[in-house]
This record gives sequence, C-alpha cells and structure tokens, in this order.
Amino acid sequence: MARLLIAAVAASALACAAVGLARAEDGASAPAHQEWSFQGVFGTYDEAALQRGFQVYHDVCSACHPLKHLAYRDLEAIGYTPAQVKGIAAQYQVTAGPNDQGQMFQRPAQPSDMFVGPFPNDEAARAAENGALPPDLSMVVKAREGGPDYVYGILTGFVKAPAGFKETPGTYYNATFPGHQIKMPPPLTADGQVKYTDGTKATIPQMAHDVATFLSWASEPNLDERHRIGFRVILFLVVAVGVLYAAKRRVWSRLH
Ligand code: HEC
Repeated sequence: MARLLIAAVAASALACAAVGLARAEDGASAPAHQEWSFQGVFGTYDEAALQRGFQVYHDVCSACHPLKHLAYRDLEAIGYTPAQVKGIAAQYQVTAGPNDQGQMFQRPAQPSDMFVGPFPNDEAARAAENGALPPDLSMVVKAREGGPDYVYGILTGFVKAPAGFKETPGTYYNATFPGHQIKMPPPLTADGQVKYTDGTKATIPQMAHDVATFLSWASEPNLDERHRIGFRVILFLVVAVGVLYAAKRRVWSRLH
C-alpha cells in the first residue's frame, strides 16, 4: 500500500515536471507573479478591490471589450445594492420586442439583462479597432496561462521596445503579450484616470491589479462558495480517515 502510494506520488511529480519543461520550451516568458487575495485554498475576494475593478472595467475597458457572461444583477454579489445595480443597468440600452406593431425597440437595460457590449457584432468591433478584435473578457483569466498575472502583465507591460525590435505599424510593444506586439493601445495611461469612489489612489499598477481581480471574479464568481465547500470536504475526509484508522486498529488487534 505504502509502496503504491509512493509510486503514485512519484509519477505525478514526474508528470508535473514534464508539463513545466514543455511550457518553458514554447518561448513565452511567464508573467511575474503578483499577490492575489483569492488564490490558495483559503483565498477570498476583497470586495473593495472587486468594486474598484468593476469601476476600471466600466470606465475604461468596456469601451472595447464585452463581458458577455455577466448579468447586471451579478454585481449584487460584490456588494452593490439592488438600487445601485438598477442604476448601472439603466445606463445601457438593449433591443427588445417585438411590440404590438411587430417592431423591435430600444429600452434601458434591467438588472436581469446580460452586460451590454460596446459593439453590435464582431465585424463592427473589428471595423472600429483597425481590424483587431477586442476579445470578450469573461473568461480571459481562465483561458490564459498565468490568469490574473497575465492580465496584470498585459496592462502594465507597455514599455519601450528593446533597441532593434522591429515593430509592425498598428501594434504596440508589450512585454507580456506573446510575440510582444499587441493591437490594443495602452488602456491605462495616467494615475487618477479612474476616480475611485473609495478614495484609493488610482495608480496604474493599482488599477491593473483591481481590474484583474474583478475579471478573475467574473470568470469564477462562485470561488468563495467553492472554497467553503472544499474546506468542509477536507475536514470530513480528515475525520473519516481518523475513524477508519481507529476501526482498523480495533479489528486487527484481535488477530495479533
Ligand atoms: C481602444 C480599445 C480597447 C480598450 C479601451 C481596451 N482594450 Fe484590451 N484589447 C483591445 C484589442 C483590439 C485587443 C486585441 C489585441 C490583439 O489581438 O493584438 C485587446 C486585447 C486585450 C487583452 C489580451 C487578450 C488575449 O487574447 O490575450 C487583454 C487581457 C485586454 N485587452 C484587457 C483589457 C483591459 C483589462 C482593459 C481595460 C483596462 C482593456 N483591455 C481596454 C482593445 C482595447
């Protein structure tokens, strides 16, 4: 039994090492690791950071990037009141209908509506952005290696290109983006660009960190809940192992 266990641990360690090697070989340098309150087994989201992150998304990113998987009422989970959510939703128009005359019409969005994107379709987005498609940010943290570190790395990665780097017109040098040429103009350019309602100083790294936190939550809104359940499951397993071990000793003690 013990030998089997050691073999299994050794095998998974080998597998991890192999994956690590394969990643190192594809040439993309991993973004630097930042501190995130929600990582680790006991991690939880910081509600103030989530609200600041939403402000950054709302004021800056939403001009280009949709966030299709969220409904306005999901914002109640990060501490906005139903009245505030109603107010946020009402800033957007959605197409509804048909009415009695068979016509579609525009109405203000309601809390139950999904986030309204900046463009009616991908073609309109490309036309407005010089042919580049600003991707939906709902899953970007899940979909990219590095997760929040990647998003933070992109937002703070607009640095001067190294001497001799050949830049393609219409792209911006970015230290984190694979290939280093991104078609997104630097979105965070000045301290104080977003007026935080909680008085936090909106430096570029602060805004990048907050919006990466918000986008992590957007891609995994049930994380806190899952951590709570996971903790209970582990507690149960620990107790169960103890009980089984005691039972085993009792049963076998008669045989010795
Ligand atoms: C002016 C429009 C515009 C704004 C504003 C903007 N973006 Fe972008 N973004 C783009 C475009 C276009 C791309 C695609 C770039 C490419 O493919 O080269 C992009 C790409 C990205 C990527 C990389 C996605 C990937 O596929 O790896 C991330 C992350 C990102 N944006 C996050 C943000 C965040 C967060 C904000 C707000 C702080 C923001 N963007 C604001 C246009 C914009």
